[in-house]
Amino acid sequence: MRNISQFISDRANLVDASGIRKVFDLAATMKDPINLSIGQPDFDVPDSCKEAAIEAIRKGFNRYTQTQGINQLISRVHADLTKELGRDPGEVFVTSGVSGGLMLAVLALINPGDEAVCLDPYFVMYKHLMTMAGGKLTAVDSYPDFRFYPERVEKAITPRTKLLILNSPGNPSGYVMTREDVQAAVDLARKHDLIILSDEIYKEFTYCEGADSPAKFYDRTLVLRGYSKSHAMTGWRLGYAAGPGEIIQQMLKLQQYTFVCAPSPLQLAAVTAEDVSMAEQVAAYRRKRDLVYNKLSSKFQIVKPEGAFYMFPKAPDGITATDFVTRAIENNVLIIPGNVFSSQDTHFRISYATTDEKLEKGCDILNSLV
Ligand SMILES: Cc1ncc(COP(=O)(O)O)c(C=O)c1O
Repeated sequence: MRNISQFISDRANLVDASGIRKVFDLAATMKDPINLSIGQPDFDVPDSCKEAAIEAIRKGFNRYTQTQGINQLISRVHADLTKELGRDPGEVFVTSGVSGGLMLAVLALINPGDEAVCLDPYFVMYKHLMTMAGGKLTAVDSYPDFRFYPERVEKAITPRTKLLILNSPGNPSGYVMTREDVQAAVDLARKHDLIILSDEIYKEFTYCEGADSPAKFYDRTLVLRGYSKSHAMTGWRLGYAAGPGEIIQQMLKLQQYTFVCAPSPLQLAAVTAEDVSMAEQVAAYRRKRDLVYNKLSSKFQIVKPEGAFYMFPKAPDGITATDFVTRAIENNVLIIPGNVFSSQDTHFRISYATTDEKLEKGCDILNSLV
């Protein structure tokens, strides 16, 4: 008889457990930690969206929707994107979170041996999805300031490269691509005939001007956005993809045999979400960004982030990020070592999506460890 482990696919074995999960497991053993590791907002879903979801469920809007999503949401997103980009964004498709969109996009575009390029540090899912599809992700060093350095990225492009994955505002750096960065990325994609996969899940949390989506300038862009972060709907699994119809149609075909559709009552609630202003929450996070930056910047080297709710400071000289994070955890502060997101173990990620009190305390402890 074979051991159960012999039944496990090579594909599954190639994927290692997310480093963030390991930190969460460690957190479970801590008593009331100051948790600065959480990748989701600390506010709740707006009441009007909750009501819309409850009403939809009560009214019996609980069955499968069409694969592409409900027309109200698709047409709303299409109209808003058309206005924002100044052009037709292509087809829109409601996905099960940005994660669902990423998975279908990679499955629709990547053959075994194909390559994608992104910046290092990067959101870990990119690497594992590429691995699952038999492809390869090349992550290009963007330290020390996390900018898009076109000459570095160009060196990573090979004849097998199909995708340029962009993520602005970025996880874990909080970096927001400037106009010049976006233009350089678009120029490179055009020159090397690449599709841009633009993960814009943190778009709502942008604290500076001038960060347009590459989709404004390049119609071979697949935009992925979602409601997880902007409206604190991480558990609702809702997002959307917009881009060239030929790609969306292939993603739809795969959706039929995987996710089937995004959760129906919650799609209706997302239409309501489109009319809810999150300006207050965004302003609060901008203030928290300033609070943490002001408290830590005299002791740590930090690129002030212009988006998302993360900061990515450098660990003190002479110590790896993993060792520094271990020390922080021993002192009851939970943060994430940079090597979870990077080939470098030099930085650590702080999420400031928590109370001011925890941020103050957490920063004091981190400062005391230097
Ligand atoms: C950069 C990035 N993309 C995508 C996701 C996945 O988001 P969703 O909840 O929409 O699947 C996350 C979640 O942390 C993220 O940080």
